[in-house]
Amino acid sequence: MQVESFIIWYIQFVYFRHIIFIQLGFLLSSFLFYKWKEENLKSIHISAFCSTKQYSREEVSTHKTKENGIWVTYKNIVYDITEFIDKHPGGDKILLAAGGPVEPYWSLYAVHKDNKEVMDLLKQYEIGILIVDSNIKVHT
Ligand code: HEM
Repeated sequence: MQVESFIIWYIQFVYFRHIIFIQLGFLLSSFLFYKWKEENLKSIHISAFCSTKQYSREEVSTHKTKENGIWVTYKNIVYDITEFIDKHPGGDKILLAAGGPVEPYWSLYAVHKDNKEVMDLLKQYEIGILIVDSNIKVHT
């Protein structure tokens, strides 16, 4: 196998040696481009991560009133739904989840689960992510 590879390499070298520098140049520029792209992607990820606000469960639980803002969480994302309260098709029931997770209530009112309209609405009110304590069980 190694002998065959060597023969192939030798034939290539004999026939294409006049363009070997072009090939090497191409290889080097591809490598440099790859590295540059990798660095760029890294910095995009870092800045996206840093710009996302993080909240603890305690902090979320202090937002239960219209004056202070009404926040809820869903799958470790924090939402400020103050503006939505009066528009909610299910009325004031939404306030039961104020300051905490919506999951227990959505298990009761299953109309929300896998509902695109609900997910699109929620997306508009996203304000950050929840700092997850590994001792707390996350409901899904
Ligand atoms: C926090 C974000 C929430 C959003 C964006 C939301 C959105 C919606 C939407 C779009 C509907 C109409 C669904 C449909 O008819 O297809 C609905 C209905 C309803 N929601 Fe919510 N909801 C939220 C939270 C809650 C919570 C926490 C509760 C209860 C504690 C709740 C209780 C209800 C009820 C009772 C209905 C009426 C279901 C029916 O009888 O048709 N919702 N909600």
